[in-house]
Amino acid sequence: MCVFAVWLFLGILVFAPYFQCLECPFGCECFAVSRTVKCVSKDLLTVPQSIPGSAKTVIITGNNIHKVGPDSFTELENVSNIILSNNRITEMMSHSFSSLINLRFLDLSENQLTLIHPEALSIPGSPLQELNLSRSLHNFIALTDLTTALRWGGLGGLLRLDLSGNHLALLPPGMFSHLPNLQQLFLTNNSLMAVYSGTFSGMDHLELLDLTHNAFTTFTADALQELENLGNIRILLGDNPFTCSCEISQFVAWLNESRAQVDVDAVRCASPGGLSGTRLRGLGVHATGCVVPVQAEVADLSLQTSYVLLGLVLGLVGMVFLFVLYLNRKGMTTWIIEMRDACRDVLEGYHYRYEIDSNPQLGHISADNGGSPGTTTFRISSITAAAK
Ligand SMILES: *[C@@H]1O[C@H](CO)[C@@H](O)[C@H](O)[C@H]1NC(C)=O
Ligand SMILES: *[C@@H]1O[C@H](CO)[C@@H](O)[C@H](O)[C@H]1NC(C)=O
Ligand SMILES: *[C@@H]1O[C@H](CO)[C@@H](O)[C@H](O)[C@H]1NC(C)=O
Ligand SMILES: *[C@@H]1O[C@H](CO)[C@@H](O)[C@H](O)[C@H]1NC(C)=O
Repeated sequence: MCVFAVWLFLGILVFAPYFQCLECPFGCECFAVSRTVKCVSKDLLTVPQSIPGSAKTVIITGNNIHKVGPDSFTELENVSNIILSNNRITEMMSHSFSSLINLRFLDLSENQLTLIHPEALSIPGSPLQELNLSRSLHNFIALTDLTTALRWGGLGGLLRLDLSGNHLALLPPGMFSHLPNLQQLFLTNNSLMAVYSGTFSGMDHLELLDLTHNAFTTFTADALQELENLGNIRILLGDNPFTCSCEISQFVAWLNESRAQVDVDAVRCASPGGLSGTRLRGLGVHATGCVVPVQAEVADLSLQTSYVLLGLVLGLVGMVFLFVLYLNRKGMTTWIIEMRDACRDVLEGYHYRYEIDSNPQLGHISADNGGSPGTTTFRISSITAAAK
């Protein structure tokens, strides 16, 4: 009896907000208080018509709606939130949401968009503030389509854009340049490897850029400049496979100096093995394997040292030699005098021979020697004569 009363009470609680009005589309639930229409996992093939005009929030998820077009949502001026996630939507036609002039929040996550028409997102008055396209782009064509749609959509009021989980490998330059008021950009869980100059151009009010869980191994000087141009915003870079080799030093220096607020505790080396898990900020050049120029410096220094040592040794030997000479200066003098005397003796010997040669009576003695030796002895003797 008591249990029954409890069940009845709970039943009233659960079903009270449910308004079983005639307007509620088939297979959907309509909630009066929250002005919400829910059509969840009903295998719907199109967006149901006859959604009540008072509805504020429309939740259509887990269906098989392949296409949204200008007829999908009409005359719903009170709708501000639409959640269309997980409906296998592949095509979004121009002006699909044009009649939703108060639409602030649009969630298209977990779909398979392959075709987005250029004006698919345009709504008069640019009311849209948040667009969720997480895991919704099926391929690269969808990305280029989206780039055009962001340009033509007049999304000047957009504040939040989620493009996470879309296998994005590159971002077309200036892709976000027509979103001047964007404050939060989620690019997490993609395959991005590089940022180029112009990638984030035109976003003057960005406050948060989420690049976590991508394929960045480092950032080039251009990329760092592009990030720095964003000012002192919050930039999330964690969960990327950073390679802590020599090339990363610019990035490390940027992490140290940048005015951006980076999640430095999550920015860690993925390789090489020895450094994996090490925080990048404050990482020394030696640790990153940047030892090549340092080694050359050391080699250069040791070469210089050996030259200096050689010079010192030679100088020392020279000084010892001079000192020995100085000690033996007396002996040297006698040696020099002896040498001079010896020379004189030799020269006198030649002089003697000259006298013999020039004596005609003794001429026959050296006749067999020919003229030439005579000339020589003459010359030497004349030098000797000059010396005397
Ligand atoms: C939107 O809401 C207002 C106020 O709740 C209501 O007067 C108006 O009729 C609604 N619009 C539609 C199309 O039902
Ligand atoms: C976008 O949708 C996904 C999945 O539906 C959700 O996890 C994510 O938080 C949403 N993004 C934002 C910015 O709310
Ligand atoms: C990242 O994206 C892939 C593919 O879109 C998805 O399967 C995976 O669950 C996502 N991971 C996270 C952590 O969001
Ligand atoms: C980091 O920056 C500070 C000043 O902001 C500087 O004193 C320090 O030397 C820098 N460290 C490295 C490793 O660049």
